[in-house]
Amino acid sequence: MKTQIAIVGAGPAGLLLSHLLHLGGVDSVVIESRSRQEIEATIRAGVLEQGTVDLLAQSGVGERMKREGFVHEGIILRFAGRSHRIALSELTGRSISVYAQHEVIKDLVSARLDAGGKLLFEVKDAALYDLDSASPKVRFHRDGGVEEIESDFVAGCDGFHGVSRPSIPSRHRHEFTRTYPFGWFGILVEAPPSTEELIYAHHERGFALVSTRSPQIQRLYLQCDPEDELKSWPDARIWEELHRRLATSDGWKLAEGRIFQRGIIAMRSFVVEPLRYGRLFLAGDAAHIVPPTGAKGLNLAVNDVRVLASAFLEYFQSGSEAGLKAYSASALKRVWRAEHFSWWMTSMLHRFHDDTPFQHRLQLAELDYVVSSKAKAITLAENYVG
Ligand code: DHB
Repeated sequence: MKTQIAIVGAGPAGLLLSHLLHLGGVDSVVIESRSRQEIEATIRAGVLEQGTVDLLAQSGVGERMKREGFVHEGIILRFAGRSHRIALSELTGRSISVYAQHEVIKDLVSARLDAGGKLLFEVKDAALYDLDSASPKVRFHRDGGVEEIESDFVAGCDGFHGVSRPSIPSRHRHEFTRTYPFGWFGILVEAPPSTEELIYAHHERGFALVSTRSPQIQRLYLQCDPEDELKSWPDARIWEELHRRLATSDGWKLAEGRIFQRGIIAMRSFVVEPLRYGRLFLAGDAAHIVPPTGAKGLNLAVNDVRVLASAFLEYFQSGSEAGLKAYSASALKRVWRAEHFSWWMTSMLHRFHDDTPFQHRLQLAELDYVVSSKAKAITLAENYVG
């Protein structure tokens, strides 16, 4: 097969890139190791920055998001038994939308397929070749045979565990990592909303987060041991921890319901530099990971793709490589801002097992500052809305 851009990975980054390239008249082929059913059912985060919402809407894939997503104009920080609102819209003029990542995936897959886009699912053993030549190649197994895509460029959008990043020789890669000594236990629950806005709770037993998906379905998280197994969290323990960590002195109540999905999320910060090697460009989780506190992961992927798509379009329309040359530095600037924000939110809100009472007091002092200083609240708000 021949195409202009071979895209490895049909997550939000790969699919959106393929969609934006198509709108600009550039051809791509997307390969994905999982099935369409699997990528459309994997439960991930659900907070979209306004810039993400605007890009999806402007590029014609925002119709269902606008109908079914929820616009939020604030979030709640809860600590020491009290709630404090951060008025995102008042402070920044922007809002966020709650719309699940797998719904974004469904919208993008159907837009690509409707436009005759080439998405190859369930490909195995993908390998990248000749990345430092003018015609890089992606080879893989599909339906029992070997296939190869020859392209002008390869976009590595295949996530943290994908094949793209390790295809860059290690001497051309600088990697920056931090792992956190905790994870998030995430559940989906059949229950009405307990709150109109997301609640981020700091508690000495650990962090908890109340988010939402629909009037019937709520999304809840609580800090757990990253080594925990699902079976160490029977329903009664989940509810007891959530009630304790979210307790307030004002009579607020968490609505319970049937838990129908559960999973444990590891927490890590990671960046590789640069985002380019020869004709391979990395975008999304293949290039960087943030801990989920603050919900930046999907939004960063979308921003990478916004920059990368326009660089590819500029190249194919005018022959200029200026955008391609600037991609890595330009995307990394925003990546490091989000890395810092996600690390800061995580550090402020979680219990670390080597915490001393002194560190606990520092967290409370920081939280107090955020909710009592307009300058500090704006710092949180402008990072949160992107
Ligand atoms: C959700 C996930 C996050 O990481 C976050 O900070 C807020 C909400 C969510 O899945 O709804």
